Parts: sequence; structure tokens; C-alpha cells
Amino acid sequence: MTSNISQGKYNVVQRFKFLSIIVPTFKETDNLRPLITRIAAVMDKVSMPYEVIVVDDDSQDGSSEIINELAEKGYPVRIITRIGTRGLSTAVIHGFYEAKGDVLVCMDADLSHPPEALLCLIKVFEDSKVEFAIGSRYVPGAGTPESWGMFRWLNSKLATLLARPFTHVKDPMAGFFMLPRNVFERARSLNPIGYKIGLELIVKCSCHNIVEVPIYFETRKYGQSKLNIREQFNYIRHLKRLADFKLGDLSYFFQFCLVGSTGMIVDLFIYSLLLAMEVPLPLARALSIWVAMTWNFWLNRRLTFSYSRKGKILQQYIRFFSTCVLGAIVSWSIAVFIPQKVNMFADYILPVAVAGICVGTLVNFTLSRFWVFR
Ligand code: GDD
Ligand code: MN
Repeated sequence: MTSNISQGKYNVVQRFKFLSIIVPTFKETDNLRPLITRIAAVMDKVSMPYEVIVVDDDSQDGSSEIINELAEKGYPVRIITRIGTRGLSTAVIHGFYEAKGDVLVCMDADLSHPPEALLCLIKVFEDSKVEFAIGSRYVPGAGTPESWGMFRWLNSKLATLLARPFTHVKDPMAGFFMLPRNVFERARSLNPIGYKIGLELIVKCSCHNIVEVPIYFETRKYGQSKLNIREQFNYIRHLKRLADFKLGDLSYFFQFCLVGSTGMIVDLFIYSLLLAMEVPLPLARALSIWVAMTWNFWLNRRLTFSYSRKGKILQQYIRFFSTCVLGAIVSWSIAVFIPQKVNMFADYILPVAVAGICVGTLVNFTLSRFWVFR
């Protein structure tokens, strides 16, 4: 490829006419000048017009002055300042919507993503089947700084592993990627949260033929990383959303059952506690069931059906309570009547009770999903 470039302008990809580079920023003043000039030096080698759109979350550190000054000097760059909101992923999406290119790039401002790799990313699209290209840290030829401690490395690997059900690429966490506009426009229900905008797009645009180009991920020289523990939690929430998107009701059902099993532990714990306090058994049982049910209600509202968090809580609670009672009646009836009425099940009391629990759970789930938390 190098030889290709040194032979002068390098006639990439007839497929695209204009490249839009989106750079999300928050307090990156010292990085902006080197970033824009390095991008310009690289793009000079390619006969393709481009723009850089910096999407800044109101850093108030002189970023806009620097960008405007560079624009006056003739660099094709502009800045969009978002006020009263923060978020890497939403900033990138915002930039994509503003972009006029037929091919889009997302990259960090801190020069961790070497602008020189843009050439390799563009080149990948000579193959017209390619839908997404990643500047990857985890393919042969790529690298991460030695200074990355064991912790950061493990953290990144674990996050990558958790994304496995959604994509098999080696570096789905990467914030350096390129995709054609028409692929971006395929996105259904974009709902990005946190840092993993590349993963969001791979899943929501149903990207196939993803190519990873090795990069060396530089340690930033100026400013600080904004990745904090809160973003790590956001990643878990993001994974849940992706699972809901991919699996739909199956994903909700799985979470509903998970919550139910924690509820069972709560139930048994409270029950033993009350018995130890010599509370009469019928009352102890009723109280522990009620606590567990309230626990399930709260967790399902917060997690499983979090889309419904803004609903009227009292109404939801009463409805949830009645679905629990109904589910219990269904489960009880199956356990009691089937062995009585159907001879062949007379000897299978326990399996029938299990079947009752399953049907009861399904009834609970269906009513919760489509009535209580609709
Ligand atoms: N607009 C905006 N709003 N930009 C932000 C925000 C925000 O709330 N938070 C961070 N950014 C910008 C930064 O200014 C930088 O340009 C870029 O997003 C990446 O932020 P860093 O804080 O440098 O992130 P990092 O180096 O820890 O994470 C990078 O590597 C991760 C993989 O290890 C990013 O590329 C991530 O996307 C990537 O997952
Ligand atoms: Mn960084």
C-alpha cells in the first residue's frame, strides 16, 4: 500500500465521493490542532474531498476558537457545540446526522487513533461488499501501549467477551471505524448509551462483511480520558438493550426469570428470618411472599422492563400484584387438579407441580410484559 501512495494521488474507491470524519470531543483543546493537521496531511494523499465535524459538549476551554481559526486557514473543519448534554455515543450520532459525506468515520480526538490509518480504512472499501471497517487493536500487526496495566487490558478483554453474542469481530469496543452512509441509514432504533457506538452500529445496522485494519493505539499525550466507572455500568445497560433488540421477548423473558430467581432467594431468606423470630407460620409465609413480590416488582420495573419506568407506579404495582395472584392460582390449579383428573399423571405429582410453575410463570410474564409494563 505504501508504494501505492508514494506513486502520487491514490485513486481510492470510486464507490465514494465525500468523506465525513466525526470527532466527539470533551476538553481536548491541546489535541485539536495536531489532529486536524495530521488528518489534512493524510487526506492530501487521497483524491477525495472531506470534512471534519467536531461534536463538542460545551467544553468551554477554547475548542471552538481553535476550530474556527483552523477553518479560517482553510481546513475543512467545523464544530458543533451541544449544550446541556453529555455523551460520546450520542455526540457521534449527532455528527453523523449532520454529515454530508457518503462515507462516515468516527475517531477520537486524542490521537489514540492514528489519522494515517484512514488510508487503510478507505482502501478496505475497494471491495464493494464491505460494510464496516474498524481500526482495530486486536488483529495481527496491531498494538496497545505497554503502559496499559494488566487491569485495563483485562477490562478491555472482558468487555469484548461480553459482546461476543452480538459480533465476532476482534475489537468491537473500538471507537475508530468507517461505514458507508447507506449502511448507517439502515440503523433501526438507535439507542446508544455510553462509549460503544461502534458496537451499537454493527448490531443495529446489521453489518456484515466487517474488516479490521490493524492500528497502534497511542497513549494520549494531552488531556485526560473521560472513561469512568459510570461508563462501565452503562456498558452493561447497553448490552441489555442490544439483547432486547436482538432477541425481543425472549430477552425480556430471560431477565424476568432471572429476577424471579433472586426473588425466590429473598423469599426464603425472609421466611426463615421471620420463623426464627417466632412469627406464626401462616403470617411469616404471607409476609415473605409479599416482600419477594415487591422485590420482583421493583427489579422488573428497573431492569427487565426499564422502558416502562416512567409509568404510574401505583397502578403498575397493583396490576403486578394481581398477575402474581393469577399466576399462583394457575400454578396451584395445575398441581392440584391434573393428577386428580388425569389418571396417567396421578403418580407424577412433582413433575406436574413443576409444569404448573412453568405455566404460571408464563402467564405472569405475558401479563407483565403486555399489561403491567406495556
Ligand atoms: N462530545 C463528547 N461528549 N465527547 C466525549 C465525551 C462526551 O461526553 N466523552 C468522551 N468524549 C470524547 C473524547 O474527548 C475523545 O475525543 C473521545 O471521545 C474518546 O474519549 P476518551 O476519554 O479518550 O476515551 P478512551 O480513550 O478511554 O476510550 C477510547 O477507547 C475505547 C476502547 O478502549 C474510545 O475510543 C472508546 O470509544 C473505546 O471504546
Ligand atoms: Mn482516549
